[in-house]
Amino acid sequence: MAVQWSGLSPELLLALDRRQGPLRTQLEARLREAIRSGRLRTGERLPSSRELARILGTSRGLVQDCYAQLQAEGYLSSQVGSATRVAGGQRSQGGQGGQGGWHPPRRGVPGGSAPERPALRADFRSGVPDLASFPRDDWLWALREASRAAPNSAFDYGDARGSAALREVLAAYLRRVRAAAADPEQMVVCTGFAQGLGLTLRVLARAGIARIAVEDPGYDDAAVATGWAGADAVPVPVDGHGIDVDSLRASGARAVILTPAHQWPTGVVLSPERRHALVAWAADRDGVIIEDDYDAEFRYDREPVGSLQGLAPDRVVSLGTVSKSLAPSIRIGWMLCPPALATEIATEKLLSDRGSPELDQLALAALLESGRYDRQLRRMRGTYSRRRAALADALAEHAPAVTVTGLAAGFHAVAHLPAGVAEQAVVDGARARSVGLYGMSQHRYSRAAEPAQLVLGFGNLGERAIGAGIAAVSDLLTG
Ligand SMILES: Cc1ncc(COP(=O)(O)O)c(C=O)c1O
Repeated sequence: MAVQWSGLSPELLLALDRRQGPLRTQLEARLREAIRSGRLRTGERLPSSRELARILGTSRGLVQDCYAQLQAEGYLSSQVGSATRVAGGQRSQGGQGGQGGWHPPRRGVPGGSAPERPALRADFRSGVPDLASFPRDDWLWALREASRAAPNSAFDYGDARGSAALREVLAAYLRRVRAAAADPEQMVVCTGFAQGLGLTLRVLARAGIARIAVEDPGYDDAAVATGWAGADAVPVPVDGHGIDVDSLRASGARAVILTPAHQWPTGVVLSPERRHALVAWAADRDGVIIEDDYDAEFRYDREPVGSLQGLAPDRVVSLGTVSKSLAPSIRIGWMLCPPALATEIATEKLLSDRGSPELDQLALAALLESGRYDRQLRRMRGTYSRRRAALADALAEHAPAVTVTGLAAGFHAVAHLPAGVAEQAVVDGARARSVGLYGMSQHRYSRAAEPAQLVLGFGNLGERAIGAGIAAVSDLLTG
């Protein structure tokens, strides 16, 4: 789709060389070239003839003549009273019997765009919150408020650790809601868990920490990022109480990445005994615990679990994110750093990007301080608890042999398939019926397909689609 430049007249960089022959011929050639090469795309508006003449230091008549010529050749189009635009479609070059046609190049998304997903009637992909519930009005209010109230200094390069205002508000919020030992001086605002983990891994690499434990099953990206940073990711099993600390001790790792409040993807909570054992391990080993506190905001019928960082602030790097509470694309997260690592992590952040965008940070601070963030969480807890009830009901009705665990928090659950039902066969069979189901094996280090389980996300799926999706695959889920 063409960008619809609004405003008086879009600017255009075209260089003419007054020593190189007639300007009109040059201008026509430059415009043709800009269109053929895709610099100017179908539907894009060109500068007005008056404005382009001013920019190029030529007469307006010369530009009008060029535009008319290119219209005649089919490169440009213009209607009375409206702007001149790049014409659409394929056409022969220059209208002069040229060979071939020009095709506006496809717009490429740099850096690995999300894979295109075929439309599914129900997609139980996990990790995505309800995108339709993003609080657009509140965010708009917060951005406006941030732009209005920010002092001029907010537009300068700032503290790479993040806006002082946001760190102050976030620290108070995390002390209140997560029982974290949050100190704004030891906090770094980052662009989500992904960046926070990357910064931490680089600091650990420089400290010579080359073996880092990850949960098995666990968050695949954490293991991938660990390997990418040059360390060995060592899988450590997770059971019904969370990560197995005895195995962690035996692994030889000096750091561990884990999801204590709501283990990804099994949904178990790290038990109080294991929490204490983990902290003792870190003290004995001079180790570092990287706490992924990704969706702690959403719990339903279980006791609140505080952040692990509150137990051992000098051993834990705690990473939080708005990816579940607001939306992944906002790309704001935070790190509570042990004092011994805080300066190095802040330096990594400084060298990476000089700090996260200030206005977005101020907007988040306004959202938190005004109570709108809490209100959004309350709303979403209601939404997700209705969806998890819909999932539990649908499975009970259509697949009673399936048991479900991990429903007490977040917006995904684990479905345990009955004996004799193969995980991949269910996933493939469901896909053929346009239902997206996802196996646990992809989150296991060994990729073992036993025990056969599914990880079912219901964050971005309405109750009706949940019911219809499960009904559509009921026979696949029955042994
Ligand atoms: C276990 C876990 N941690 C963290 C994240 C969020 O990462 P980020 O803040 O980079 O969006 C996700 C996203 O799906 C996740 O599943």
